Amino acid sequence: MSVLLEARNLRKSFRRAESTVDVLRGVDFRLEPGETAAITGSSGSGKSTLLNILGGLDAPTAGEVLVDGRLLASDDRAARVKWRSEGVGFVFQFHFLLPDFTALENLLVPVRSRRDVGAADRERALGFLEQMGLADRASHLPGELSGGEQQRVAVARAFMNRPALVLADEPFGNLDAANGARLGDLLMELHRQEGVGLVLVTHDERLAMRASRRWHLSDGRLAPGGGESA
Ligand SMILES: Nc1ncnc2c1ncn2[C@@H]1O[C@H](COP(=O)(O)OP(=O)(O)O)[C@@H](O)[C@H]1O
Ligand SMILES: [Mg+2]
Repeated sequence: MSVLLEARNLRKSFRRAESTVDVLRGVDFRLEPGETAAITGSSGSGKSTLLNILGGLDAPTAGEVLVDGRLLASDDRAARVKWRSEGVGFVFQFHFLLPDFTALENLLVPVRSRRDVGAADRERALGFLEQMGLADRASHLPGELSGGEQQRVAVARAFMNRPALVLADEPFGNLDAANGARLGDLLMELHRQEGVGLVLVTHDERLAMRASRRWHLSDGRLAPGGGESA
């Protein structure tokens, strides 16, 4: 079986004036194409740090990240930028939609960053909005949408460029239970439909249970299982 993403013995330390924090202390991780992984862990355990490294937003202090079997060298900034802009879609706890762009335009931003937007792109974006239950919200600004609706646009945006991998960092953190569950359903649906690898950091045990692999991050290491309840 091919491997989409692999991390070997990842270490990450943050150096401060007076101290060093060793956040990741030898993390091994692998994800096959189209697979889902859920990562749980207490606040401050390094989940975002790990996701940022896997997505090329940050480089590890030591260890290796391999994408499609190719080494993403820590000192090769250009390769990291290419991976994160072409290979990865991100969803964060906060939506980061552009406030002066409509929902439809926000979906087209990732496309526009790479090439001219065509009719097929518009169609794909409108299709996503419809799937998200937002067909009648295409021309709304983020400020005219509810929190759950904003986050649904952000989820669809992550898939627009047909990435190989979507990384979602506590995407339901700001939503109530009903909106969170709905967003979780939509995220899993898009993941299946688009055949995209998905790594999901979540506190929601029910959603974590739907992932094909579950990991728990603690003491700087990733272990199989969902933490206390595993
Ligand atoms: N840029 C940074 N500089 C210094 N410390 C950082 C930085 N980013 C994260 N940390 C520290 O690393 C630890 C893990 O943070 P984070 O990955 O955000 O955890 P989580 O997402 O699991 O809550 C925390 O102690 C945090 O303070
Ligand atoms: Mg975090």
